[in-house]
Amino acid sequence: MTDGAILQPQDDLVLILDFGAQYARLIARRVREANVYCEIIPWDTSVAEIAKRQPKALILSGGPESVHLEGSPFPETSLWDLGIPILGICYGMQLMAEVLGGKVKQGDHSEYGSTEIERIGGESLFGDLAQHLVGWMSHRDQVVSVPSGFDVIARSHTVEIAAMENLEKKFFGIQFHAEVTHTPWGADLIRRYVIDVSGCKPTWTPDSIAQMSIRNIKRQVGEGKVLCALSGGVDSVTTAVLLHEAIGENLTCLFIDHGLLRKDEREDVEEAFKVFGIPLNVIDASERFLGHLEGITDPEQKRRRIGEDFIRVFEAFASDHKGMSFLAQGTLYPDVIESAHPAGGASHTIKTHHNVGGLPEEMGFELVEPLRYFFKDEVRQVALEMGVPHHLAFRQPFPGPGLAIRIMGAVSPESLEILRDADAIVREEIESGLLAEELWQYFAVLPNVKTVGVMGDGRTYDHLIAIRCCTSSDGMTSDWPELPWKVLRRISTRIMNEVRGVNRCVYDISTKPPSTIEWE
Ligand code: XMP
Repeated sequence: MTDGAILQPQDDLVLILDFGAQYARLIARRVREANVYCEIIPWDTSVAEIAKRQPKALILSGGPESVHLEGSPFPETSLWDLGIPILGICYGMQLMAEVLGGKVKQGDHSEYGSTEIERIGGESLFGDLAQHLVGWMSHRDQVVSVPSGFDVIARSHTVEIAAMENLEKKFFGIQFHAEVTHTPWGADLIRRYVIDVSGCKPTWTPDSIAQMSIRNIKRQVGEGKVLCALSGGVDSVTTAVLLHEAIGENLTCLFIDHGLLRKDEREDVEEAFKVFGIPLNVIDASERFLGHLEGITDPEQKRRRIGEDFIRVFEAFASDHKGMSFLAQGTLYPDVIESAHPAGGASHTIKTHHNVGGLPEEMGFELVEPLRYFFKDEVRQVALEMGVPHHLAFRQPFPGPGLAIRIMGAVSPESLEILRDADAIVREEIESGLLAEELWQYFAVLPNVKTVGVMGDGRTYDHLIAIRCCTSSDGMTSDWPELPWKVLRRISTRIMNEVRGVNRCVYDISTKPPSTIEWE
């Protein structure tokens, strides 16, 4: 399988040099929210490479290093001669000061948290923000003297130089993290930097993103035929809708029903595709998948068997439909960043994640990845722009192995039925309580534990259902929300009244880490 051709968006470009900061993605989010296109690149990208991309501005992220330590990241010095605006945040500011002739003092303790910042002018960056502001700091070193040509434009009660600028060169340094939500005016500052200071046009809007994707698909695929395997999630649905708009009937969509879907899921996807007039090939392979899962209790074994079956079913379909040279995948920008900067990426050893995308390497498809520049919320916006119904555009993530990893132990038709019914109630109540948009995921789990209960005059010995709700921005870490008691009470009452075989409900109050979101 060859990698998807890198297709450039046409918009003004901001490049973010990543110095290993946990914050680089947040910076990118803020720039995109200003409707300006940006990409994150490793800090050691050559200046020639950067110049070739013709960025309108650079942002240097923070990072865990100290400019005084041997081996810390220093880009080529010609970076400072590109003649474009540069904003350094935290380590980026210290680097700017150190390289251009200022002084950085190595700190002996860290400052971490909210702090009061006082402006000293600095209209270019601060605009008409108040004189005293609260911003978020996370640093050890600090700039103690600015390079010549620079002015100090903010101080705090812990650092004398909290921000600096050289207006002539359009170089700016800020010690605080403007990209985090704890700096509530930070998004304004970033917007002012990319639009007012750097002159980027705010053209990165859902409509322009969709049009760009469609143009790029046409350019890449031409008259070729594309196979798009769908999971029903917003990424694959949006991929399919963009492809259909670009290449019409040269698109073939495949949805494999592995029998581990949620209640009405297949019908929902079929319905949505009907609305778009996109022909959908649905393969009901549930017997095959469930057959291979019989008696299997180990979570990784389940994942492997399901992954293997996906590949076999997919291969059979592809060999019955010859002539397709492209495979569409809903790869998102965070996946692209993670594979380009593996050190900062997620650990994939905790669970073997399986997506319908990770398919037959040896089949010789070229990849089409129309979403490879987008963050999840941009995909949702594009989906809405393209007419995807709201409930599909804001659908919660659902794992490839489906309900199999929400049933502890062996999966059976009976356990699937109980879980499906309980899960439908959790979804209905969360969605009708308008809580869904605040949650990353919300679902039911069947731990396969029976407990004693009482119903009427009789003793019962029935299943326990766990309710799992999570807040998260990317699934890498998560917290549990303090749901209104009313909602929890309604969910539990309904599950116990309406789902046969259940006599007890619990609410999962585990954060990730140390737990994971899914139970298996
Ligand atoms: P965990 O359980 O690892 O989940 O905290 C993090 C996110 O990944 C999803 N997940 C999966 N997605 N195949 C998938 O496609 C998998 O095997 C899988 N396991 C977990 C999970 O739903 C959550 O959003």
